[in-house]
Amino acid sequence: MIRLEGLGKDFGAHPAVSGLDLEVRPGEIFGFLGPNGAGKTTTVKMMTGLLKPTAGRVLIDGLDLAADPIAAKRAMGLVPDEPFVYPKLTGAEYLRFIGELYGVPLADIRRRVPELLEMFELVPWSGELLESYSHGMRQKLVLAGILLHDPKILVLDEPMVGLDPKSGRLVKDIFVRLARRGTAIFMCTHVLEIAEKLCHRIGIMIGGRMVACGTLDELRAQSRKEGRDLESIFLSLTGGAEYSTLLRHL
Ligand SMILES: Nc1ncnc2c1ncn2[C@@H]1O[C@H](COP(=O)(O)OP(=O)(O)OP(=O)(O)O)[C@@H](O)[C@H]1O
Ligand SMILES: [Mg+2]
Repeated sequence: MIRLEGLGKDFGAHPAVSGLDLEVRPGEIFGFLGPNGAGKTTTVKMMTGLLKPTAGRVLIDGLDLAADPIAAKRAMGLVPDEPFVYPKLTGAEYLRFIGELYGVPLADIRRRVPELLEMFELVPWSGELLESYSHGMRQKLVLAGILLHDPKILVLDEPMVGLDPKSGRLVKDIFVRLARRGTAIFMCTHVLEIAEKLCHRIGIMIGGRMVACGTLDELRAQSRKEGRDLESIFLSLTGGAEYSTLLRHL
């Protein structure tokens, strides 16, 4: 579904992502972890055609993103780290716009828009301009927009940030159901509990390179932390030994 081959991005002399190979299969939820500045968002931008790679290529549902960008993007839904929405549209107008942009039949748009607004508890604000929406409300609207065109591939950059506990639970359940239906989900997250409970496989980026990738059990074996939780594994893989020294300035 998603295939990254030798993907790399340099900003000037600084390599933000280097030699990234990865495959995410249909029905799989892949969690992309790593410290701030590790190259996760840069990877997401390259995967979704927002940033041109310096090296390698991206295949989406078998299509080369660089050669066939429109068809590849049609198969994909993106939740960026900052939920951008047009400020002068209302919630309902935004969803209709997204539906039309992705060629969703008009009858489906008419039926689905009210359903999705209800699911994300946005009905009371559906006629309000998006400039008045809170961060979490925008985030939910972007997610509703993705469900409207129901792509085979979802790419999400920290989708839980800003969501209240009930909405967070809703979104987790949605991801699980979509994956069961065969959607491939690639998700950046700092929330280790989500990665642990939701993701079938996890990749850990450090300094632009993926230093570990596999199921939770495989990561445990790699970090020689038998039976430990993902936090211990993550800290040990990302230099947890020095962690205690950070607190000495307090
Ligand atoms: N437009 C840009 N110009 C120059 N350097 C950039 C640019 N975008 C990102 N970088 C650099 O690339 C590296 C990776 O950044 P990126 O945003 O991909 O990290 P991240 O893993 O998403 O971090 P976070 O967890 O904080 O979201 C950083 O060193 C960052 O400074
Ligand atoms: Mg980021």
